[in-house]
Amino acid sequence: MENERSRALLEDAARRAIAYRQSCDARPVAPPAEALDAISRFVEPLPENGTADEEVLALLDEVGSPASVAMAGPRFFGFVIGGSTPVTVATNWLATAWDQNVVMHEVTPATALLEQVALDWLVDVLGLPSGTGGGFVTGATVANFTALAAARHRVFEDAGWDVEADGLIGAPVLKVIVSEEAHPTLFKSLGMLGLGRERVVRIPVDGQGRMIAAQMPPIDGPTIVCTQAGNINTGAFDPIGDICDAVKPSGAWVHVDGAFGLWAAASPPQAHLVAGMQNADSWATDAHKWLNVPYDCGVAFVRNPSDLASAMAITADYLVTDSEQRNPSDYTPELSRRGRGIDVWAALRSMGRSGVAELVSRCCRHATRFAAGFTDAGFDVLNEVVLNQVLVSFGDEVTTRRVIDEIQRDGTCWCGATVWQGKTAMRISISSWATTENDVETSLDAMLRIARRLVD
Ligand SMILES: Cc1ncc(COP(=O)(O)O)c(C=O)c1O
Repeated sequence: MENERSRALLEDAARRAIAYRQSCDARPVAPPAEALDAISRFVEPLPENGTADEEVLALLDEVGSPASVAMAGPRFFGFVIGGSTPVTVATNWLATAWDQNVVMHEVTPATALLEQVALDWLVDVLGLPSGTGGGFVTGATVANFTALAAARHRVFEDAGWDVEADGLIGAPVLKVIVSEEAHPTLFKSLGMLGLGRERVVRIPVDGQGRMIAAQMPPIDGPTIVCTQAGNINTGAFDPIGDICDAVKPSGAWVHVDGAFGLWAAASPPQAHLVAGMQNADSWATDAHKWLNVPYDCGVAFVRNPSDLASAMAITADYLVTDSEQRNPSDYTPELSRRGRGIDVWAALRSMGRSGVAELVSRCCRHATRFAAGFTDAGFDVLNEVVLNQVLVSFGDEVTTRRVIDEIQRDGTCWCGATVWQGKTAMRISISSWATTENDVETSLDAMLRIARRLVD
């Protein structure tokens, strides 16, 4: 009887989820006002007594589904967040049903092995040095944090200081060098590591947001240099190879924040953008962005896995941490967590190397087409479109924001606003597996129709 009820519940969930996914193409990308009004139904006092499981699920679907943004659909271009391919949603469901806590190899050998395979495949597809280690974390924010914890360990150890044991009080001076256009979450990671959001040397950028390597200060003493693969506005890449050449001989650690841009390495037409990045010491990326797996899935990579383990590994009498095999929790801030590497394994197993390359290059082709469409119509594209990012201005700030608001209201697609190097722009980010040429043309038609109406 209990089995029957749980089967019916899970089948109902699957049926509702499938219906939702299939509606994403046809529905407005932004939820309608009535659907948003209805979410107030969620606001109620904690129930004294329980509710039937079927009713809980039905409430979530009936109120939550119409109020969600169609980020899983083909025309959400608001952030570089990708979608989630059907196979990764399916394997995510199954892995959720397994409910494995991927801490120790000895206890969950199958998921630990799947994550090891997924990591090895990522190292391969992204062209990182063989032997690179890493861990699966919630996103690029935590991937930056995790990789920079390994960096902090290594540069302090080289200076004769045990930062894990003794902390930062009294530690040797450590210089952190960042780009003026580093992503805000990088500063947050530095803050969480006790290195300071503001205690950094900021290197100026060029007209595309790339760090100017020639402005790098001399390296004298413990130093971490944070570079970026993929500027959040323009998609531009810091000259990572040149920076490595300039600072590594003096012993600096080079980190690459490649939340979405690291995926350029997987696509031959774009791979030149990350030239030399394999000479860095650590890298952060998101699988929930361009690899199109469900949230949440970031990855921290460190050239020498023992630097990461020195920063992250712990043990306790009740844990089995002395395995011959790789223990997942030695490489992540978390102890308990889901096996998020399984989704990565599924994505790579289903797409293969060529599928990932095609996904990345297809999104870049879509970006080029968007840029050409706006330029041909007489609007300003502010950036060199080298990857999947397009910045469009519709004139002054007020007009540009009015056009963006109207595009969001129209519902054909969804783009957000940004201010980049002093100019307000609409930001188009293409990273979903689901976006077709037809979606690009449909979206472009809608955006141009609105822009022409609102721009004098
Ligand atoms: C360059 C860069 N770094 C870090 C992040 C933060 O990633 P997440 O939101 O997955 O933590 C982003 C997000 O877009 C990004 O583009």
